[in-house]
Amino acid sequence: MMKLFVLSLTALTLLLFVGCEPNEFKEGVVMAGGQYVPAATLNKGKQIYSEYCMACHGVNGDGNGVASKGLQPPPRNFKLGIIKFGNVVSGELTHDDAVYKSFKHGLNGSAMLPWDLKQGQMVAVWQYIKTFAPDTWIGKDKKLGEKLDRQTFKDPFTMARKEQAIELGKKVYHVEANCQSCHRGYVTLAEYDAMSKELTGDGIDELDEDFYQLKIQGSDHDYQVIPPDYTWHELRSVRTGDKEIEDIYLRLLAGVGGTGMPAWKDTLEDHKIWALAYYVNHLRSFKDSPKRKNFVSRFK
Ligand code: HEC
Ligand code: HEC
Repeated sequence: MMKLFVLSLTALTLLLFVGCEPNEFKEGVVMAGGQYVPAATLNKGKQIYSEYCMACHGVNGDGNGVASKGLQPPPRNFKLGIIKFGNVVSGELTHDDAVYKSFKHGLNGSAMLPWDLKQGQMVAVWQYIKTFAPDTWIGKDKKLGEKLDRQTFKDPFTMARKEQAIELGKKVYHVEANCQSCHRGYVTLAEYDAMSKELTGDGIDELDEDFYQLKIQGSDHDYQVIPPDYTWHELRSVRTGDKEIEDIYLRLLAGVGGTGMPAWKDTLEDHKIWALAYYVNHLRSFKDSPKRKNFVSRFK
């Protein structure tokens, strides 16, 4: 009898405590894409957020949590409503599964580590995070972007024609897409000149002063961003293993939200985007390798 009494007393205090929480959700909301999220899910998400995420992302979701000091890149400011690694053309609203992938695998080279959350926990915490940017995410009228769906991806090269893809990717990278206008170049003047003549008919007399340098730049996030050197930096949204080409291809199609990194979908022909993915992945193979020194020393 006594036990029961104590139990119900604890339950009552718990209830009172939760009831007093000023931000407790009493009603569900309709998120972008017409998804109804019940209050219970948001409350569960808030609990998970407070426990695991708040230290970096902050009480108000502004990215200024107690553990955020000095982190490079800084934790995402959720109030801005911008996701970098979505599965839609950047600038549009992403589908949830792209964000769940980032939870599961983390964002390489950042403090955002992989999280061992169950599906229900990922859903709850992400729906809660959306409430930090209601103007972006909440409302029946809000539409998600067209999903860049992995199921529909068709690699025209496959590993069998890998070398061919890398060769084409190298040309597209430096001549057609001019990726080194933000990132850096990975060819000598002689190679650049020859590739340019082949593709455009015009040669190159000299390299821009910053051809081999990364161009640090502003962004819609509240800090400057650094286009990676693939032979040196980790690529945030790219896993190692048999999915790496596909991960890079998706990133090139979609771009990186809120940064200068463009979505190349419909700007370049599809097979050229695949070729670029092979080329970028080839450059990644120099990372942490003794071969890197030799490779980059050609570009001085
Ligand atoms: C140790 C600090 C830290 C913790 C703890 C942390 N994050 Fe992050 N998070 C980061 C950083 C740093 C970034 C930004 C990475 C970047 O810009 O590439 C980030 C980015 C994100 C993004 C943005 C992804 C995108 O594509 O823009 C989401 C969503 C996110 N975190 C959710 C969470 C959730 C949910 C938790 C708790 C389960 C959590 N984070 C815990 C540091 C942290
Ligand atoms: C206008 C500037 C700009 C141009 C042009 C540009 N990028 Fe980027 N790129 C960026 C920036 C900035 C980032 C880093 C975004 C971040 O993580 O904050 C980036 C990131 C990337 C990433 C890493 C994605 C990840 O998961 O971390 C890859 C790969 C990439 N770019 C490839 C390319 C290729 C290939 C081209 C040419 C076809 C290109 N970029 C052209 C600015 C640019």
